[in-house]
Amino acid sequence: MEQKEDKLKEVISHAKEYGFVFPSSEIYDGLAATYDYGQLGAELKNNIKSYWWKSMVQMHENIVGLDASIFMHPTTWKASGHVDAFNDPLIDNKDSKKRYRADVLIEEHIEKIRQKIEKEVEKGIKKFGDSFDEAQFRATNTNVLRNMEKITSIEDRMRVSLENNDLEGVYQLIMDCEIVCPISGSRNWTEVRQFNLMFSTELGSVAGDAATIYLRPETAQGIFVNFLNVQKSGRMKIPFGIAQIGKAFRNEIVARQFIFRMREFEQMEMQFFCRPGDEMKWYSYWKETRENWHKKLGLGDKNYRFHDHIKLAHYANAACDIEFNFPMGFKELEGIHSRTDFDLKQHEQFSGKKLQYFDPELNQNYVPFVVETSVGLDRMFLSVLSSSHKIELLEDGSERVVLRIPPALAPYKVAIMPLTKKDGLPEKAREIIDSLKFDFLCQYDEKDSIGKRYRRQDAIGTPYSVTVDHQTLEDNTVTIRDRDTMEQIRINIADLYRMIDEKSNMRSLLA
Ligand code: GAP
Repeated sequence: MEQKEDKLKEVISHAKEYGFVFPSSEIYDGLAATYDYGQLGAELKNNIKSYWWKSMVQMHENIVGLDASIFMHPTTWKASGHVDAFNDPLIDNKDSKKRYRADVLIEEHIEKIRQKIEKEVEKGIKKFGDSFDEAQFRATNTNVLRNMEKITSIEDRMRVSLENNDLEGVYQLIMDCEIVCPISGSRNWTEVRQFNLMFSTELGSVAGDAATIYLRPETAQGIFVNFLNVQKSGRMKIPFGIAQIGKAFRNEIVARQFIFRMREFEQMEMQFFCRPGDEMKWYSYWKETRENWHKKLGLGDKNYRFHDHIKLAHYANAACDIEFNFPMGFKELEGIHSRTDFDLKQHEQFSGKKLQYFDPELNQNYVPFVVETSVGLDRMFLSVLSSSHKIELLEDGSERVVLRIPPALAPYKVAIMPLTKKDGLPEKAREIIDSLKFDFLCQYDEKDSIGKRYRRQDAIGTPYSVTVDHQTLEDNTVTIRDRDTMEQIRINIADLYRMIDEKSNMRSLLA
């Protein structure tokens, strides 16, 4: 646990030191759980957005983009169910005065039991070596079976309590599991209460209920209310999707763990409209497609796992998360939801306008079903940053800190460094930048020794560093150093474009 916390601390301090992420309004001592993306963070974020947008919109003929406003007519949130049901069950510890999400406390307790099972399996592997049959062990070992039963029983009780809004039942489950406050260590809990997560404000100068509007808690509703606009103006045929990237706001009870859970964050969401009855086919398709999208980044296949929802949101008939192995452990990165025709039907009912599609093949009108993929941009950012942050021991005994960011996402693609600040080398270096800057974000660096400059580029994840020396002036060759292998080769300036492009373009990710 301590190691995990240390890792997160390292990532946070690295992010600040090199201009990826700063605490927001820091000169006023910051604001809880709000962060600003710095000069490199903004680049990394843009590259992640671009990877997502291209994979959705550019690579799918039947998916188009949208950019809806954050403020929406307040009835939107009545229709979507957010006014009545976008609640978290919260509980306070009377000793530490800390507030928690009751369901998260229970899920963390379940995770601890899961870890016990994994430890038991590891013991088995050590004991039996090559002859170890993991599947059989999991199916027969008494400790594993006992803990599995425990998990099932807790999950069942939690699901039933949450589905029935039985807050007393949730409280009892926390007591029965003997869950203690991580800060005070006590079981001195308050009752469980519901808390709506939407931020509200007032429109213009009119006060009162009629003028209350909300900051959108998800981008999806901007897509639903525009379903027919896009379908008609874009002559879209079902099945088709609408993609959007934008800010969302939630008054999270527990906002912590850096940019993992914030009150203002960004979502990349896509609603895929299909024929009623086809939704499970598309749900499987999008599960697989999204898993591949993540794994293509090369952050390590073992860092991903699926988690099927116990408590389905009010709009879903199937839902799962893609979880990532963050420094704090496996946590939700993306949600994939089969939202049925719930949202469109609700908007039909509340607006009195038909939101139907005429299917020429079936010769019939219907309200389409929707499969949604929803990934948090900030969580994607954290997954990339935390898994690529490495401290490596070098052959000469020294250490280097390197960000092994997938080159296509790296803020700078190349650093150009004149060996010295004189003899025309800076001018030559700038000439090279001028020829590359239309296609790649380049950094010019002439300060300190070449070794120190390499370390700086490693620390910000620049895939290539190019050194311009006296020989360059004679034969137009430069030394190019690879961030990951640290190998250096001499190449012609004319070959730079191809090398950088091959390494860092998005084609291989999107293929
Ligand atoms: N439209 C569906 C929806 O909003 P969600 O599971 O509540 O579903 C989708 O959110 C994704 O948004 C999550 O998987 C997560 O990546 C991101 N997300 C949700 N709350 C967040 C928060 N407070 N801070 C950062 N990201 C968040």
